[in-house]
Amino acid sequence: TTRYRIALIPGDGIGAEVLPPACAVLDAVGKRHGLTFTYDSFDWSCERYAAEGAMMPADGLDRIRHHDAVLLGAVGWPGVPDHVSLWGLLIPIRRQFRQYVNLRPIKVLEGVPSPLAKATSDVDFVVVRENVEGEYSEIGGRLGRGFPDEMAIQQSVFTRPGVERILDYAFTTAQRRSGDVVSATKSNGIIHTMPFWDELVKEAGDRFPDVTWRQEHIDALVAKVVLDPSRFDVIVGSNLFGDILSDLAAAVAGSIGIAPAANLNPERDHPSMFEPVHGSAPDIAGQGVANPLGAIWSASMMLDHLGHPEAGAEVLDSFASVLATTDVRTRDLGGTAGTKDFTNLVLEGIAGR
Ligand code: NAD
Ligand code: IPM
Ligand code: MN
Repeated sequence: TTRYRIALIPGDGIGAEVLPPACAVLDAVGKRHGLTFTYDSFDWSCERYAAEGAMMPADGLDRIRHHDAVLLGAVGWPGVPDHVSLWGLLIPIRRQFRQYVNLRPIKVLEGVPSPLAKATSDVDFVVVRENVEGEYSEIGGRLGRGFPDEMAIQQSVFTRPGVERILDYAFTTAQRRSGDVVSATKSNGIIHTMPFWDELVKEAGDRFPDVTWRQEHIDALVAKVVLDPSRFDVIVGSNLFGDILSDLAAAVAGSIGIAPAANLNPERDHPSMFEPVHGSAPDIAGQGVANPLGAIWSASMMLDHLGHPEAGAEVLDSFASVLATTDVRTRDLGGTAGTKDFTNLVLEGIAGR
């Protein structure tokens, strides 16, 4: 049997409610494929911040550096400013572990209605989000606090190697899919970084002559994702554009509660991190009603990354078949099932295979 050590960071709110289902599914599928998972759980969270003044210990990253992967629930809770909690935990992991790809697949699944009448199972695309630079940067500052002309300046950072590697990832992904890339841009309004991004997209297009590509302005693009989501296969975007696109696309596919994310370090010199797209959902936390599918699907992406795509596919099949053959649903999908009820059905499906 193959053993993996997984670092678990439940974080805040429903993060702690959706990770146990993901681990239970991993254990069940692992058993069938000769995979054993050992979990080390870390209590890094806003609760820890309140008690100790930091989201994680000073050597936090060293404690998880040698794990095979990280599974994270969600970070952020009222009372701690979001930029403090996120820049104290989630964002440093992405950046220091060079997880420069944030891969976010979107599928309209059988049995999960899209709010869009036109969206059917032919909606199947991925958002490839740049995950360590772009609009998310520490460069800038607040000036003149308290003065009438007070201001804040926030610099975006787009480096040639940083943009080239995310574009290479997107074009390579397209080669394995239907061979089409759409680049999200805003070069009509943002006059330094976005024209540079567009130039590098054109260069990438030249490097991958077998892939077709076009660019669309992010404002028009989001409208098209709503009006005709089946047109898309791979959408590549900067950190901020990819963030916004992925929640929009998750809603198009039925619920933010389903959407998964893989923060990938393609060079594999540090662990990659898997987490649902959604946040800590303070409005429903503690009630046992969160949809566990975003976390479970993220765990399936972890199996793919660890080199077990057949096990990953089995996770997808097992929850897809619960959705297709029963009407048991969590609240976000219009049902009354709790997190555990739904998870148990998925586990029964795996046991019965
Ligand atoms: P959110 O994703 O937490 O919630 C948005 C809405 O979706 C809420 O109504 C919530 O109830 C619902 N929802 C989310 N996940 C669900 C699930 N699994 N099942 C059912 N319903 C679900 O976004 P928000 O309200 O903008 O953010 C809340 C906190 O989470 C903030 O502190 C934010 O910074 C943080 N956040 C963290 C991450 C992350 O850790 N990756 C991602 C997004 C937001
Ligand atoms: C996500 C989240 C984070 C992001 C926030 C919480 C910093 O929205 O993972 O999509 O913007 O990356
Ligand atoms: Mn987001």
